[in-house]
Amino acid sequence: QEDVFKKVISHAKEYGFIFPSSEIYDGLSAIYDYGQNGAELKNNIKQYWWKAMVQLNENIVGIDSAIFMHPTIWKASGHVDAFNDPLIDNKDSKKRFRADVLIEDYCAKIEDKENKEIEKAAKRFGDAFDKAEFEATNPRVLEYRAKRAAILTRMAKSLENEDLADVKSLIEELEIADPDTGSKNWTEVRQFNLMFGTKLGASADTATDLYLRPETAQGIFVNYLNVQKTSRHKLPFGIAQIGKAFRNEIVARQFIFRMREFEQMEMQYFVAPGTELEFYEKWKQTRLKWHLALGLGEDNYRFHDHEKLAHYANAAADIEFNFPFGFKELEGIHSRTDFDLKAHEKFSGRKLQYFDPERNENYVPYVVETSVGLDRLFLALFSTCLKDEVLEDGSERTVLSLPPALAPVKAAILPLMKKDGLAEYAETIFNDLKYDFNLFYEEKDAIGKRYRRQDAIGTPLCITIDHDSLVDNTVTIRDRDTMKQERVPVADLRRIIDEKTSF
Ligand code: GAP
Repeated sequence: QEDVFKKVISHAKEYGFIFPSSEIYDGLSAIYDYGQNGAELKNNIKQYWWKAMVQLNENIVGIDSAIFMHPTIWKASGHVDAFNDPLIDNKDSKKRFRADVLIEDYCAKIEDKENKEIEKAAKRFGDAFDKAEFEATNPRVLEYRAKRAAILTRMAKSLENEDLADVKSLIEELEIADPDTGSKNWTEVRQFNLMFGTKLGASADTATDLYLRPETAQGIFVNYLNVQKTSRHKLPFGIAQIGKAFRNEIVARQFIFRMREFEQMEMQYFVAPGTELEFYEKWKQTRLKWHLALGLGEDNYRFHDHEKLAHYANAAADIEFNFPFGFKELEGIHSRTDFDLKAHEKFSGRKLQYFDPERNENYVPYVVETSVGLDRLFLALFSTCLKDEVLEDGSERTVLSLPPALAPVKAAILPLMKKDGLAEYAETIFNDLKYDFNLFYEEKDAIGKRYRRQDAIGTPLCITIDHDSLVDNTVTIRDRDTMKQERVPVADLRRIIDEKTSF
């Protein structure tokens, strides 16, 4: 699994999808740049989401709100007071850890240590005691194992519920339970706000403290009446947005899975009070279906219903995806009640009520939200589609079998050679099709090599121009997945590429 993930990261870099940010200055932790192919893929994912959410739903519209927002918004939303991560300080190394990551590592260490100990002990006792017998007969180990298992189970629950006090006491219990590790390094559990602060204004004393938004949702909440009045939509209606969000993640790991600057694709659906759970269920199913349509395999998705809910939610679930490091959150669907809009009413002093002509009453709408991380979706696609294949003739190829509609390059235009007018003919084909599709043109290297390079970036079709093309206006078109080649008239290319690569 680790190897698979390493391959994903190196392939992303080698083929122009993702580079570490500021690389020539040794990079910036948990910040990444999207390269020429990454930017195309990312744009295509955005379009695919926008079409499904905005274009196909007559009652959903899209906006693009600013990243900077009035600082009181983050008071109202609760982010100033409650958007914290549990932090644990290590006295010796003076390093900070996020509690969940720390515990993961800690458990791995104990696991490792114990295995080695058991092994060593088994050796000491010689043939008379094999490993299993030792484990079963040594009461100290047995007792510790049982205790540890119980503590870890409780700890997993507390972490899930973000019950910090409990996690802290469980760490202590774990250390007491462990007869040997006994390290007392991990001490204080503190809270650390995840928002990035910045300043607006010229001079230090008049400048206003601002935050970079940690979610795009608030830009939708504070604009909901503007949009409702100008779009004249009745409830239920939705507002969608794609944009950057920033979080000062303490331990940002796993490549683009957890970044400090990332993109969200969020949709807030405004509904009449009392109808929110029905829409919550509907959106859960709709969003899962959308993911499944990408064709990454049904088994790679599962719902995780939240047992313990945030104070503003009355239902919440994650769509989890099977990443190279296991099932993790890809998208959140939350029934957020009227918490945000009510809070903005309170903090702004403005009424944010909607007049419902059918009920003949004013009320603050309830909100069901769908929120998916664009970069996580990118990672899900990229890591699942990247495959090493052994071909019939025993040779190998690396192919990125992206859904054709999302592929960065739709077709490569490849003259077999530069001379004899082949390049010129290929160029006329390129110029004719470039208004409709993102194409790639290449005339260097053997054709087989060029095919492999296109396979590696996920190009669904390769179009080869040879000497016959000049005579009969036909070309060879090669399919990325089947590698089958077909002779087709140049006049049919637009239709063929369109059929293969449209949404
Ligand atoms: N408005 C609701 C909200 O922001 P969230 O669960 O905190 O909810 C929604 O975030 C989605 O944003 C997550 O499911 C995940 O896909 C993505 N996301 C959150 N933090 C991220 C990070 N540090 N890096 C990349 N994606 C992130």
